[in-house]
Amino acid sequence: MTNSENPVTVSVRGLEKFYQVVDQKYHILSGMDFEVKAGEIVSVEGSSGVGKSTLLNILGAMDSFDGGEVDVCGVSLRYLTEKQRENFRAEKISFIFQQHLLLPDFTALENVMMPLLISKMNMGQAKQEASAMLKLVGLGERTESFPSQLSGGESARVGVARALVGKKQLILADEPTGNLDRDNSRHLMDLIKDLQKEFQFSLILVTHDMELASMAHKRNRILSGKLTPISG
Ligand SMILES: Nc1ncnc2c1ncn2[C@@H]1O[C@H](COP(=O)(O)OP(=O)(O)OP(=O)(O)O)[C@@H](O)[C@H]1O
Ligand SMILES: [Mg+2]
Repeated sequence: MTNSENPVTVSVRGLEKFYQVVDQKYHILSGMDFEVKAGEIVSVEGSSGVGKSTLLNILGAMDSFDGGEVDVCGVSLRYLTEKQRENFRAEKISFIFQQHLLLPDFTALENVMMPLLISKMNMGQAKQEASAMLKLVGLGERTESFPSQLSGGESARVGVARALVGKKQLILADEPTGNLDRDNSRHLMDLIKDLQKEFQFSLILVTHDMELASMAHKRNRILSGKLTPISG
């Protein structure tokens, strides 16, 4: 099946987002339209402050918006209650963050098990799936390590394992290589690429890193509040 025939994972129509600071209104996203299909990797680039993280937070139902329609994995995000947002996040999407955000008092294995336990998988199965995912990211020997005992590159890979373990349809990555040196960035990029081929999730990749952006099937930047294709 070609991409043009694939189902739509993300549909954004006329998205508006403002921030109000004291009596000043800042229009961050303005009439933004785009689609992401199943299995597509789409980059979101653009200078600091243009609204890249804001867009990801909206798509992940972490932040509200002021106009337009946003459908993610078949769910319209416009009028969700807090409980529905939680369920949506648990079932449909995962985030990969620049700061990894691992829980410091839990081992690598426990960190990766966490989303499975939240979605009510039993302990035994969660342990098995989390171990298998850690093995896939090359950390089969480090399951019992705590985040403070892991290098930056290893922590990043635990963050990827945690995002992918639930086999979600959509992964939202915000500068996933932002804290890594060149070698570790490349390693993480190859890993994400391989895992995407294997699991066929859609990936929205916010990045300043041209090399990382080059793995996208479609490259875009935010310009004047809209998502604009980068050609060439
Ligand atoms: N809670 C908030 N209240 C007011 N303004 C905000 C809030 N969050 C973000 N902004 C503003 O919205 C704009 C977009 O922020 P955002 O974090 O989405 O930028 P970004 O493109 O991710 O930047 P960077 O590349 O630096 O991470 C910025 O000007 C920021 O200051
Ligand atoms: Mg940001």
